[in-house]
Amino acid sequence: MKIAVLYGGTSGEREVSLSTGKGIVKALENKGHEVIGIDFQPHKLDEIISLQVDLVFIGLHGKFGEDGKIQGLLDMLEIPYVGSGVLASALAMDKAKSKQIFQLNGLQTAKSKTYEVHSDFSVEETSKDILASFTLPFVVKPNQEGSTLGLTIVKQEEQLEQALITASKSDSVILVEDYVKGKEVTVPVVGRQGEERALPVIEIIPKNEYYDFDSKYQPGGSEHIVPAELEGRLTQQLQNEAVQAHQLLGCSVYSRVDFIINEGNEPIILEVNTLPGMTPTSLFPDSAKVIGWSYDDLIQKFVELSAV
Ligand code: DAL
Ligand code: MG
Repeated sequence: MKIAVLYGGTSGEREVSLSTGKGIVKALENKGHEVIGIDFQPHKLDEIISLQVDLVFIGLHGKFGEDGKIQGLLDMLEIPYVGSGVLASALAMDKAKSKQIFQLNGLQTAKSKTYEVHSDFSVEETSKDILASFTLPFVVKPNQEGSTLGLTIVKQEEQLEQALITASKSDSVILVEDYVKGKEVTVPVVGRQGEERALPVIEIIPKNEYYDFDSKYQPGGSEHIVPAELEGRLTQQLQNEAVQAHQLLGCSVYSRVDFIINEGNEPIILEVNTLPGMTPTSLFPDSAKVIGWSYDDLIQKFVELSAV
């Protein structure tokens, strides 16, 4: 097949996407496809149209890549692409909206509240409201961002104003969430709509205090235990809930669903990533390896599941 791979882009996760894209290009070449790699900027759309590719593989992360916008442009051009469509991508990217859907369907989420950063936004007033609504520690993060960019675990009141300023740089909506103490786990999901399966659960043991940007992308920044050493019942629950979350948002082909297992041994769902990282330190490929799928096999599977 003739496949264009889009990577890079303009989001805060540009560097991550360059690494994801490099991996995808190589895998597709290894599988015998004709591959054109494109560092995506909006004006490159003309190039994509003129190439007349069979398929676009979106290797972008974050805004204007993972949020449904590029998917919408490709839909209008009738160019098929790998992965979730407009609505699922937009919902998954909006952590607050997706959490509402999860709660309505019986999945447990951390208590949270959003704050809009409009023209009369006051850090002081917002801080007061947050301190009245949450007990320390809590998490302050941009509502639409990835790779923990702009996130602070606020442990002391004095950190809060800076945390709000940091989060507001990435998005005009700030999400404040209870900090859930426990194990960080994630579950890859793959398959045609209605026939999805969950891959082995991965437990993440970051070298830093939590799974921050460096723990995610520095080689050796975290340890991945696959399959996670959990009770069978809990593993099953995580896998079921991951598929349920993927389906509730209407995702297609693949996603990775992040959870914390709280101290009561209950899964608390954090978010669904519709274009999860495929870098050398990423989680999804590590889980696939355990069931015998190499990185190249995994990428090829996504292509086959997307073929029209
Ligand atoms: N947002 C990053 C790429 C991930 O979820 O893997
Ligand atoms: Mg994410």
